[in-house]
Amino acid sequence: LTKTAIGDGALTLAPRTATPAYRWLCSELRAAILEGRLRPGTRLPATRDLALTYRLSRGTVVAAFEQMKAEGYVTGRQGSGTYVNTTLPDALLSVARPPRSPRRGEPSPPQAPRHLSAIGRRVRAFPAGASGPARAFRANQPALDLFPTTLWAQVASRCLRRTSADLLRGGSPLGHKPLRQAVADYLGASRGVRCTVEQVAIVSGVQEALDLVGRLVLDPGDRVCMENPGYIGAALAFDALGARVCGLPLDDEGMVLPGARQRGARLAYVTPAHQFPVGTSMSLARRLALLEWARKSGALLFEDDYDSEYRYSGLPLPALQGLDRHGLVVFAGSFSKVLFPSLRLAYLVIPVDLVDRVAAIKSAASRYQPLLDQAVLCEFITEGHFGRHVRRMRESYGARLAVLLESARKQLAGLLAVSPVEAGLQTVGWLERDIDGVTAAAAAARRNLEVIPLSRYARPPIAREGLLLGFAAVDVPEIQRGVRELAMALTRNS
Ligand SMILES: Cc1ncc(COP(=O)(O)O)c(C=O)c1O
Repeated sequence: LTKTAIGDGALTLAPRTATPAYRWLCSELRAAILEGRLRPGTRLPATRDLALTYRLSRGTVVAAFEQMKAEGYVTGRQGSGTYVNTTLPDALLSVARPPRSPRRGEPSPPQAPRHLSAIGRRVRAFPAGASGPARAFRANQPALDLFPTTLWAQVASRCLRRTSADLLRGGSPLGHKPLRQAVADYLGASRGVRCTVEQVAIVSGVQEALDLVGRLVLDPGDRVCMENPGYIGAALAFDALGARVCGLPLDDEGMVLPGARQRGARLAYVTPAHQFPVGTSMSLARRLALLEWARKSGALLFEDDYDSEYRYSGLPLPALQGLDRHGLVVFAGSFSKVLFPSLRLAYLVIPVDLVDRVAAIKSAASRYQPLLDQAVLCEFITEGHFGRHVRRMRESYGARLAVLLESARKQLAGLLAVSPVEAGLQTVGWLERDIDGVTAAAAAARRNLEVIPLSRYARPPIAREGLLLGFAAVDVPEIQRGVRELAMALTRNS
């Protein structure tokens, strides 16, 4: 015995939305069938009754029923009733249903608790970056308004027009060979990195590099050393893997060496060219000592060379990787700071014996980076645009840094000692009065400024309170406004 849907009370449709009546009715009927409110074999109400109940034209209901028949949800002929199909294909029943909030009075269906892996429970999201137009002193961002977008678009469209079937087909997990070659040449000439093209891998940002390398060498519970304060992205990646992250303090020469408490560490993450976030360069003596520690302990060193293209004075210290004779260093650099962050392209230089392992883990995770993006970047580098852009930005950022240092010297004396960094896109201001970084940043935000308390990058206890000040993303007048406002914010709150 079949009951009609309306007689059964099963066909209670959600109130009509702005959707056209026909589409609304189809979607409600589908949902009622897929959610089991209209059981197989149930007779649908007569088109006339449905039209009356829901104030629809009869033609709309007939058309909706015809559509349901065409999709295989219902069967029947005009005049002899329309029934929910008794043999609904499995594929139909497993179609993802749009989430629907329970109607009033309707019990929510019982749900088994969701199982999550240890990583699934542990992983934390990368903190959302600042959004909206840049204000003084946005950190971690290049001058996006100075990026040559038109030029990039020209290179990209030329590249796309010439795309070969090979490029459309796919590529190696390690990336587009011509781009790997361009990166190897660039790193050899400008960073003193010693590698062949085979050792270069193209990845989706230093963030992916941290995850890939971490998964290659870390098991849950393993120790990994990093600078304290240090890069949040590295700590996130290693924490997610269940590693024990040991923050090591900094002195004038860079991160202090791991000691007995870090015995057995498998990995050490460092930013030798320009320590993140404090900005010091690791001394040659400390680099050699770190390499020696890695050689003796069997640990791998992860060298993050994230923004060393921008050096304003002094000689750039060649990469730690260039001093390594034993395959102890994985070297990573990113195009996020030199070009723009949403490009999501970065490179890894891998010790020879790890190349196949990196290729395997990269291919298991995402096969390879989008090839067309890599081809565009490759052209941008090989045609000389990359070098020109770096030189132009170095000039602009150098001028912006000089204004920041000079204005701070005059207006922030006794409040904030701004560190005269030699490289990068940001510097640190050390708080000189009895005010902590979080309070100072909140006071600055009330004056439309963006500063980041250094404590955000530190595992407690923090040795010294300070603020991270970006100088690359905004122009000179905004830096001058920033210093004036910051002076007022710190005076009133200390
Ligand atoms: C220390 C450090 N490393 C690397 C990066 C770049 O990361 P990604 O290449 O994932 O954008 C940043 C960006 O803020 C950084 O601050």
